[in-house]
Amino acid sequence: MAPPASFAGARLLLRRLLSTATEAVVEAAAPPVQAAMAKGSKGKGGRPLYRQLSALGKPGEGSVSRVMNKWVREGGTVRVDDLVKYVKDLRKYKRHAHALERQAGSRLDTQLKLMDWMVNARGMNMSHTNHAIRLDLIHKVRGIQAAENYFDGLPDSAKNHRTYGALLNCYCSTKMEEKATDLYLKMDQLGISSSTLPINNLMTLYMKLGQHRKVDSLFEEMKVKNVKPDSLTCCILMTSYAASNKVDAIEGLLKEMAEKDVTLQWSAYSTLASIYVNAGLFEKAEYALKKLEKRVVDYDERQPFDFLMSLYASAGNLSEVNRIWGVMKAKFNKVTNTSYLGMLQALYKLNDLDRLKQVFEEWESSYESYDMRLTNMMIRAHLKSSKAEEAELLSEKAKENGAEFDSKTCELFLDHYIGKGDMISALNWVENMTKLPMKTGKLDQDRIHKFQKYFEEHKDADGAERFCNCLRALGCIDGKAYESLLRTYLAAGKTNRSLRQQIKDDNIEICYDIGKLLKRMGDK
Ligand SMILES: *[C@@H]1O[C@H](CO)[C@@H](O)[C@H](O)[C@H]1NC(C)=O
Ligand SMILES: *[C@@H]1O[C@H](CO)[C@@H](O)[C@H](O)[C@H]1NC(C)=O
Ligand SMILES: *[C@@H]1O[C@H](CO)[C@@H](O)[C@H](O)[C@H]1NC(C)=O
Ligand SMILES: *[C@@H]1O[C@H](CO)[C@@H](O)[C@H](O)[C@H]1NC(C)=O
Ligand SMILES: *[C@@H]1O[C@H](CO)[C@@H](O)[C@H](O)[C@H]1NC(C)=O
Repeated sequence: MAPPASFAGARLLLRRLLSTATEAVVEAAAPPVQAAMAKGSKGKGGRPLYRQLSALGKPGEGSVSRVMNKWVREGGTVRVDDLVKYVKDLRKYKRHAHALERQAGSRLDTQLKLMDWMVNARGMNMSHTNHAIRLDLIHKVRGIQAAENYFDGLPDSAKNHRTYGALLNCYCSTKMEEKATDLYLKMDQLGISSSTLPINNLMTLYMKLGQHRKVDSLFEEMKVKNVKPDSLTCCILMTSYAASNKVDAIEGLLKEMAEKDVTLQWSAYSTLASIYVNAGLFEKAEYALKKLEKRVVDYDERQPFDFLMSLYASAGNLSEVNRIWGVMKAKFNKVTNTSYLGMLQALYKLNDLDRLKQVFEEWESSYESYDMRLTNMMIRAHLKSSKAEEAELLSEKAKENGAEFDSKTCELFLDHYIGKGDMISALNWVENMTKLPMKTGKLDQDRIHKFQKYFEEHKDADGAERFCNCLRALGCIDGKAYESLLRTYLAAGKTNRSLRQQIKDDNIEICYDIGKLLKRMGDK
């Protein structure tokens, strides 16, 4: 029996699916990009405008309107089309860089301000499609109320299927069911509801809300209205079927899609494969994966291959994981750290630790920037086979390479040693945890309790002191911690006259229980 697909993997697929639904709206709203990207155009001797705009949001880079006004002063040209392309391009950049949330936020902000500038400072005329893009940006940056206000303020001529569609997308992505259905009815009355995009959007909403019957009836409505489904429709339906225990119905759906001549994208096949893997139907999953691969052989995108590797691992097929890895390495002249990570995870799942070590060493000898996530994966593998010393050596080695262990590293060691009952080694890693920047390390009550119990039982006052110091450094020292510390002192038959003061210094009230324990320890 092969291992079941990881829940995280399924969640990732769903997230991808949902974000695809949103992006589809924006993509459809944006005008086609012509080959000539204005990326290269420069002002007099300055940096390309694109770069200046991308840099915004970093400290000291000024505001959008300052950059744009300066650009115009220095003789740079601005055409609406170019600016819209910038906006679109900044979006793409965000998507591909998987930028941190905050960076992504500031980039969205830049896009919106750029559009504001076009309209307010330059009096540019917004096409209907640009209204839709702007509406989407306003929603993301300033919230739903601002988006509604913008929509209400649009001239009637601009209230068409695109802008209605964009507003519907806002409601759907924020799960505002009632507003979404009302708007959809309004669109129906206006005769602009009969297209794939708004229906996909609404279906996604109901899928997210777990209202699978409504997903089905929207699909029926599509047929009645003679609207052609697309690959995304198929993804939504498959996911909805899987979530309502109707995996059997998927084959019929695929046949229907084929009859309707719907071209399935690779994401449909990865959704399908992941559903089959989760259902334990590995043969069917492999069939879907073969289709997926056929679909992407000519792609220069890495993501589908990462999915292939992960899904073959979930299907328990080592030889296929290795084959896909070979295909990737032959296809892309550089293997990214993300792909290495995916390969390590796949091999971990399949328990091939020798091969895992081999791939890790290959990465170690070729990386461009050190990625602690990969080291953590190798550490996890060593710990799984109880090779704690090798794991510790790896963490030392990372330090030599200028990398720092992170909260994940600490947790891996911590849980390993706690599991083995080696609380002193575990304590070393709690101490390491306190050295992490930003206090990212966490100790939950369950772990804390295990330490306290151990020190009390082993009458280890020194250990308990060290542990309390860690709790203080991690900002989670409390009265209970001192009660345990005092019980440990009592068990060990030791006293400590500075404890009372230390408790006060920590702003912890000397409650009845603590007072009693202090007294018993001989501290009046
Ligand atoms: C602005 O664009 C709209 C639609 O593209 C058009 O109907 C309108 O006449 C334009 N207005 C100006 C001032 O150019
Ligand atoms: C792995 O996939 C290959 C090709 O689809 C197949 O021939 C093989 O039987 C599979 N192995 C396992 C263990 O499922
Ligand atoms: C992955 O590698 C790239 C380029 O080598 C690097 O910029 C990025 O920071 C790495 N990711 C992590 C999480 O270390
Ligand atoms: C973390 O703890 C271990 C002891 O298990 C130690 O060997 C290692 O040097 C520590 N790392 C740092 C950076 O202090
Ligand atoms: C006594 O307690 C204080 C405060 O917790 C601590 O800093 C000190 O190391 C302890 N002394 C001994 C001898 O354990």
